[in-house]
Amino acid sequence: MRSDALRCCARMKATRATLASLAILLAAAQTIPVSRTNPPEQSDPQAPATITRLLRGACYDCHSNQTRWPWYSAIAPVSWMVSHHVTEARRRLNFSEWADYTSDPDTASHKLAEIADQVASGRMAPWYYRVMHPEARLSGAERQALIRWARASSASLRSSENQ
Ligand code: HEC
Repeated sequence: MRSDALRCCARMKATRATLASLAILLAAAQTIPVSRTNPPEQSDPQAPATITRLLRGACYDCHSNQTRWPWYSAIAPVSWMVSHHVTEARRRLNFSEWADYTSDPDTASHKLAEIADQVASGRMAPWYYRVMHPEARLSGAERQALIRWARASSASLRSSENQ
């Protein structure tokens, strides 16, 4: 009986110590600086208003310099993940630097083809983003419109380069 009580008490102490260390770790994690910046906006793709609306609602938080940073993106460790995703996403495709792409029609054409592929395959916007952002859950018709626009723009840039 006595030893049971002792064991139970020891376990409670261990749990309390674990929780306390976790709390300290979490508090310490908050002090690590995370980049949540929006660099200046340079240019956007020229597109019909409906397409612009879809891109802004479903893609711009990661693929532009106009990220709407949600409140939970300020809290580690979520902040590290969000910041990492945005940095990676901007590196590969940044709608705010569209003029850089169009300065070389081949690059712009390639980016547009990738956009069409990513939307067609359902990889973009990522599922974990769609869970939190209803405006990124595009309907079948919206996805088709986006794919059609991206493919047509990609093709017209390709043909303009071949002239
Ligand atoms: C939650 C952030 C997020 C959102 C929202 C998002 N993406 Fe991405 N996207 C990423 C990340 C991270 C990568 C790079 C890693 C990868 O390919 O998974 C990426 C990569 C890409 C690429 C490049 C693929 C390659 O191989 O280089 C394209 C094109 C793309 N996304 C298009 C889109 C489009 C179009 C939308 C909107 C319909 C969108 N993304 C929405 C995070 C996002």
